[in-house]
Amino acid sequence: MSELTKLYEEIAHCTRCALSQSRAKTVPGEGPEHADIMFIGEAPGFHENQQGRPFVGAAGKFLEELLASINLRREDVYICNVIKCRPPGNRDPLPEEIEACRPFLDRQIELVQPKLIVTLGRYSMARYFPNAKISRIHGQPRKMGGVIYYPMYHPAAALHQPRYRADIERDILKIPQLLEEIDQMADDAQSLQAEQLSLF
Ligand code: URA
Repeated sequence: MSELTKLYEEIAHCTRCALSQSRAKTVPGEGPEHADIMFIGEAPGFHENQQGRPFVGAAGKFLEELLASINLRREDVYICNVIKCRPPGNRDPLPEEIEACRPFLDRQIELVQPKLIVTLGRYSMARYFPNAKISRIHGQPRKMGGVIYYPMYHPAAALHQPRYRADIERDILKIPQLLEEIDQMADDAQSLQAEQLSLF
């Protein structure tokens, strides 16, 4: 059993917050164990809670369309949420629920080691950019602690609001170039290291 599968098992038995009493299924996340890109949404909704899979409703369909616009399928990327259980009635996640789930998401990032973390929506963004406004920073990558974060609007918001939709459609198109630049930075760092080693 992989470490990620063990983590999913742990999440399935979690009782750290009250959402464990109302959930049908936990929604840990899914995707390749070493995906280049990790998308982090907010919380499972109705369909996700039924199926135990992230982004399987209308927002998920739109996310798949966005991925297709950069020639990716959902199987190519890792998709998860800030919290792993559905808040009743799809209300916003509470601070204590986000806090209870924090170690799970941290561990997921540690295990998958994505080159790029795309935050979807305010709650996911706030985890990495605590006082930022999404309208200001969406579509602008930022490197912190060796990881590149890329904030975008949430697909559910963008689906119904034309001004966000144009932004999210534009922001996703920057991802391929961003990945190329990340690879180039890694190559440059490697050649620099090799050069430094050859001095000895
Ligand atoms: N919205 C989210 O943030 N996550 C899901 O999994 C589905 C909808």
